[in-house]
Amino acid sequence: MERSLSMELVRVTEAAGVAAARWMGRGLKNEADDAATTAMRLVFDTIPMQGVVVIGEGEMDEAPMLYIGEELGMGNGPLVDVAVDPLEGTNIVASGGWNALAVLAIADQGNLLHAPDMYMNKIAVGPEAVGKIDIDASVTDNLLAVATAKNKDIEDVVATVLSRDRHLEIIEEIRAAGARIKLISDGDVAGAINTAFDGTGVDILFGHGGAPEGVISAVALKCLGGEIQGRLVPSNEAEIDRCNRMGIDLKKVLYMDDLVKGDDAIFAATGVTDGELLRGVRFKGSYSETHSVVMRSKSGTVRFVEGRHSMKKKPHLVMQN
Ligand code: FBP
Repeated sequence: MERSLSMELVRVTEAAGVAAARWMGRGLKNEADDAATTAMRLVFDTIPMQGVVVIGEGEMDEAPMLYIGEELGMGNGPLVDVAVDPLEGTNIVASGGWNALAVLAIADQGNLLHAPDMYMNKIAVGPEAVGKIDIDASVTDNLLAVATAKNKDIEDVVATVLSRDRHLEIIEEIRAAGARIKLISDGDVAGAINTAFDGTGVDILFGHGGAPEGVISAVALKCLGGEIQGRLVPSNEAEIDRCNRMGIDLKKVLYMDDLVKGDDAIFAATGVTDGELLRGVRFKGSYSETHSVVMRSKSGTVRFVEGRHSMKKKPHLVMQN
C-alpha cells in the first residue's frame, strides 16, 4: 500500500464525521447514520485504491451503500479489504453523548476477518499489557495482569465496559476486585482504542460488543502495538448456522492475527462527538473543524489530524434534510 493512502483515508472519515455531527442530539440515529454513510461513500470514489467492503452497512440486499462486497475506490492502486463503520455510535449522536466516531480500516486483500454481524466477547489492552491478558482467564486475573504490567495497584486500574445487563457479572467482579469502571452507553471501538492511549485514563476493555467493531478495533490496536482477543457469541440458531457456513470455530479464541492478518493495515477515525481521544466536529458558520487519528501498522506511525473544511466548497459536508 502507498503510504499516502493514510492521508487520503482521513478525508473519508472527515466527510462522514461532519455529515453525522449535523444530527447531534436530534434523536434521529438512522438519519445520522445515513448522512455519514452517504458522505463516506462519495469520498471513497476519489481514493486511489481497489477496495472491496468486507465489513460494512449490511448485506447487498439490505444496504444501499457500503454493503458487503461493494467495490470502492478509483479502480487503480492497491487491492484492499475495507471495513467501515461510517457512524460508530448512532445512539450517541442521537443523544449528543460521548465518543461517537466515523471509522474505517483497510488491509491487504484477504487480511481482514469477514466478521459476521453478531456479538463478540472482547478483551483489549494497550501495549504494556500485550501478552499478559487471556480472554479465558477470570476478570480479576486480567485486571491483576494489567495492573502488574502497568506497575499500578489494581485499585488504579480503569476498565471500560458497555453498560448492558449482560455485563452485570463482569461489572460485579471488577468492583469486587477493587478496580474502577468507566461504563459507556455505546461505542466500544473508542473503548478499545482508548486502552492504548495513556491520556484517556483507561487500561482495559471487557465485554460483548459487535464483532465487526472487534475487527476494526483490532486494526487500530495492531497499529498501536496493543492487543484484542475475541470470541464470537452467536445469539440464535441462525447465527450459529452462519458461523458454521463460514467455517468459523465458535470455541476458538480470535487473536490479533486471526482478526487482521499481515503487517500492513491502516485505521482512520474522526471524532463526531467529543471523546477522551478525539474532539467532536465544531461548526463555525462558513467552515467546520474536525479532529482525526490515522495510523498504519507497517510503520507504527500515529498521526492526529486537525481539519478545517469550507462548508461552501464541499456540498457533501452540508446536511441534507
Ligand atoms: P451502532 O453505532 O451500530 O449503534 O453501534 C454502537 C455499539 O455500541 C458498538 O460500539 C458496540 O459494539 C455495539 O453497539 C453493542 O451492541 P448493543 O447495543 O446491541 O449492545
